[in-house]
Amino acid sequence: MNDLTPVQTQEAQTAAEACGRAPVGLLAELTHKCPLQCPYCSNPVELERANTELTTAEWQSVMRQAADLGVLQIHLSGGEPTARRDLEDIVQVASEVGLYTNLITAGVLLTKERLAKLKDLGLDHVQLSIQDVDDANAERISAYKGGLQKKRDVGRWVKELDMPLTVNAPLHRANIENLPNIIDFAVELGAGRIEVAHVQYYAWALKNRSALMPSRAQVIKTAHIVEEAKERLKGIMTFDFVVPDYYAKTPKPCMGGWGRGIMNVTPSGRVLPCHAAETLPGLEFDNVRDKTLREIWINGQAFQKYRGFEWMQDPCKTCPKREFDFGGCRCQAFAMTGDATNVDPACSLSPIHQDFVQIAEEASKQEAPAFVYRRMAPVKAKAPAEA
Ligand code: SF4
Ligand code: FES
Repeated sequence: MNDLTPVQTQEAQTAAEACGRAPVGLLAELTHKCPLQCPYCSNPVELERANTELTTAEWQSVMRQAADLGVLQIHLSGGEPTARRDLEDIVQVASEVGLYTNLITAGVLLTKERLAKLKDLGLDHVQLSIQDVDDANAERISAYKGGLQKKRDVGRWVKELDMPLTVNAPLHRANIENLPNIIDFAVELGAGRIEVAHVQYYAWALKNRSALMPSRAQVIKTAHIVEEAKERLKGIMTFDFVVPDYYAKTPKPCMGGWGRGIMNVTPSGRVLPCHAAETLPGLEFDNVRDKTLREIWINGQAFQKYRGFEWMQDPCKTCPKREFDFGGCRCQAFAMTGDATNVDPACSLSPIHQDFVQIAEEASKQEAPAFVYRRMAPVKAKAPAEA
């Protein structure tokens, strides 16, 4: 992590000491438009409309400010970032100011020519999401026809262009049994890294918790499969494996700690400490149209609110593990207890930890209900068989 360069005011200097570092990464949600409708979408429940999106010049200014602040990596995300016709102009500036650029894409709108142009303009890395490696099931999960074949093409182009590739495979009860084939698929595409992340249940995914929740036995099996594959594929592909919080013994250090390492800019320029922060009450989100990224990072009310340890209650307040997990996830604590300062229920020291575990176990035993698909406009839920 890199230090912040000195700031001008006494107040800002004190705040800089409190946060102590610049964010390593900035997630740029260029647009919420997306041709896919995944039931575990991590975008907020209320999507931002295209007519509120930052302009090309405004995104370019965000890139310059990010570099000035000390950000190292820009994750160009969405929705589907390739739905922005000016992606090239944004990548070009990000690259010129020295940021490492990662395109997080579902791939279905890309062409080889466009990818080659993005590479020429400085794009460093592609992160390709997949729903499953079974064509029909991938189509059912994303409600998008022919997506998997398109992803095979994109993977091939990334390799032909000699770019690094990460395959991102969100895992849940509708694809979990295919994990060995998903890993093989990533190896065949030439991915150097795979993210096998069990779906986390915030925002839209919470609406589909029962449809997506695997059983404990399935989760344990995936851990064994990943361990075996890690060993077998040493030097070929690295793994990021995230278990669902509901079956974890200890919480994850969500966002690497609130206001410590990540900034998230929404399509309309609101700056969030985490992608789900809008689910929390009492936070004021500044906009890059009104303030600089630096001011927002250091002094923004939403960033200050849960930064550090002052806000904690027991058991976190006096727990030595707080230095490592920062009390877990604020969004999950709020979603499950109504108070974001409570301990994350994923922690075994939470008074509701057992209830939390039980929710998952019961949900996974029930017949999976129909997906509630993610769309810009509300749509009727379709039964999986109809999709
Ligand atoms: Fe982490 Fe809080 Fe649990 Fe301690 S009590 S392990 S700090 S979540
Ligand atoms: Fe917001 Fe964990 S998702 S803090």
